[in-house]
Amino acid sequence: MRDRVLSGMRPTGKVHLGNYLGAIANWVKLQDDYDCFYFVADWHALTDDYSHSKEIPENTVEMIADWLGAGLSPERSTLFVQSLVPEHAELHLLFSMIIPVSWLERVPTYKEQIEQLELQSPSYGLLGYPLLQAADILIYKPRYVPVGADQLPHIELTREVARRFNNAFGPVFPEPDAKLTEIPKVPGTDGRKMSKSYGNAIYLSDPVDVITPKVKRMMTDPARKRRSDPGNPEICPVFDLHRIFTPDGPREACAVGCRTAGIGCLDCKAVLLEHLLPRLEGIRERRQKFIEKPNEIVEILREGSKKARRFAQGTMDEARRALGMDL
Ligand code: TRP
Ligand code: SF4
Repeated sequence: MRDRVLSGMRPTGKVHLGNYLGAIANWVKLQDDYDCFYFVADWHALTDDYSHSKEIPENTVEMIADWLGAGLSPERSTLFVQSLVPEHAELHLLFSMIIPVSWLERVPTYKEQIEQLELQSPSYGLLGYPLLQAADILIYKPRYVPVGADQLPHIELTREVARRFNNAFGPVFPEPDAKLTEIPKVPGTDGRKMSKSYGNAIYLSDPVDVITPKVKRMMTDPARKRRSDPGNPEICPVFDLHRIFTPDGPREACAVGCRTAGIGCLDCKAVLLEHLLPRLEGIRERRQKFIEKPNEIVEILREGSKKARRFAQGTMDEARRALGMDL
């Protein structure tokens, strides 16, 4: 039996290069070695903004088209939707009885969200976000949870929840480990971190004639005002993308050309496009085929959710038995 991995993503809609390189590309690789469960955390999407609940199904379909285009496969992985496995909510409720509020108030992402979104009265659901995440994870008893470093406090809490439950009722939940994804620096077109909300993202669904002008207008080392001004690739966001997509030889040639003003920024960007576009074209073609048949995407998710649910029901039976509440 292969070890299981479990991870999830909120349905933010179209996937951009930052999401792809930071998570999905790694999920695709893990399919070779693990029994993979990947899900859409649609309930989690309600914790910061429930007013857009009606957009969640469409965002889910768009995101899954990108997952499939990127190489996640329903034959190799279980792809499912959190809200189609209501056992997550049941386990969350049991956990909510044994976890002190103070544990959740201490989670750094809770305070950050309140500050960032300037929330006057944060919801019960926002406080419980990491506890629902613990239920998402523990119900599948995974060995590993592939996540970015920002999620480490949530994985640590998950382990503490497992320990507390096991101490109180007997061993049901093995403690999973985070599997840290090495996330390359993926700047957006304005040089800040790539993010949907900054409007600086390159999407997997962008065709060539959308990506090309985005890259051409991308911010560079501001010292290179004129073609004859030398620049510094180390501080240039275009070069961060070179590091991800361009092989050593041509990339070094660009670095030298930049420092000596031997090439212009448009030349440098043309080299980047030469390597970036073919990598993205295959993904886009595949995602396009899927998005034309949204019913197939829905079917994949329903089937995956049925399979996930059978597993989750098995764990819930054990948990109820452990509590002695299995009438
Ligand atoms: N909190 C995660 C994020 O924002 C999403 C998530 C929800 C998740 N439940 C999970 C990730 C369970 C891994 C495992 O990225
Ligand atoms: Fe950036 Fe390339 Fe221009 Fe140098 S030449 S500043 S690395 S885009």
